[in-house]
Amino acid sequence: MALPFHTLLLTGAAGTLGRVLAPPLLGLCSRLRLSDLPGPLAHTDLPAGAERQACDLADTTAVHALLHGVDAVVHLGGISLEGPFGPILQANILGLHNLYEAARRQGVRRVVFASSNHVTGCWPRANTLDLSDRPRPDGNYGLSKLFGEGLASLYWDRYRIETVCLRIGTATPTPPDARALATWLSLPDLVRLVTAALTAPGVGCTIAWGMSANSRAFWRDDGTWAKLGYQPQDNAETHAAAVQHILQPAGPQRELQGGIFLNMGPYDDPPPEAPSAPPPQGGAASGPAEPVPRRPLGQA
Ligand SMILES: NC(=O)c1ccc[n+]([C@@H]2O[C@H](COP(=O)([O-])OP(=O)(O)OC[C@H]3O[C@@H](n4cnc5c(N)ncnc54)[C@H](O)[C@@H]3O)[C@@H](O)[C@H]2O)c1
Repeated sequence: MALPFHTLLLTGAAGTLGRVLAPPLLGLCSRLRLSDLPGPLAHTDLPAGAERQACDLADTTAVHALLHGVDAVVHLGGISLEGPFGPILQANILGLHNLYEAARRQGVRRVVFASSNHVTGCWPRANTLDLSDRPRPDGNYGLSKLFGEGLASLYWDRYRIETVCLRIGTATPTPPDARALATWLSLPDLVRLVTAALTAPGVGCTIAWGMSANSRAFWRDDGTWAKLGYQPQDNAETHAAAVQHILQPAGPQRELQGGIFLNMGPYDDPPPEAPSAPPPQGGAASGPAEPVPRRPLGQA
């Protein structure tokens, strides 16, 4: 049987989820290109039989070279945690724009974009969201993922590049805490979901919740999973006894869906001013300061 893709690109290949996804993606294509920043790519054990091409996503020229000959992309690369805006701007916003521009020029057919639950992290946990609920990002990181979903929409409407945006919850071997009983995506379900998002016919621009079949989910699937052919096999509830007592401290991080990210930032305030030196005692310098002559209006 023909493989779905000739050349498939996996960005963020040296990261936590990239290392899980690289081996199964090998089976979907004739050629798998693995990419990450040079250091992580060089120092990570990755499957033999795949190409490696280091690339900083913020480097426009390098991203165009990376996409050469690529049919489809699983895009995991970028900053995956909340933090200051500058690095997120480079890796996640400029980086994603570079990726889509290169995809447009290279004739890429499909992107699977690792979006995030932090696009809706400011919703209270008491709400069960569906995909028509408005985004409420919980920080710089969530905002960058919302930008990515907007970019995916633009490049479908204008240039017919298909994208499935996966709002991934907590993709870990087991749920780490009580919140993850709602947000968990088991690693086998992650593989099922990404495979479905890559291979389902006619996805256009689709957003899907990235979770297992969790009984306590914050999110309601509206039939998108069936359209993609994703059938989750796991449910965080099987781990409830082990983690339901692990709660975040009281406050927004416990009340809102984004959890601990609600306790981070802001990052971009100017540093506090150093305390000014006390005025010298006595002498002419202690008198009233001379008024600074004002420049007439209109002069630079
Ligand atoms: N793990 C989760 O539970 C989870 C949840 C929601 C969303 N996601 C998203 O899924 C993706 C993968 O998550 P992860 O847990 O594997 O993250 P990770 O941080 O382990 O991996 C991200 C990779 O991107 C690389 N990277 C960072 N900046 C880069 C740049 N400028 N150019 C090229 N590569 C760069 C890093 O070196 C790293 O290897 C991320 O986009 C993340 O935002 C993950």
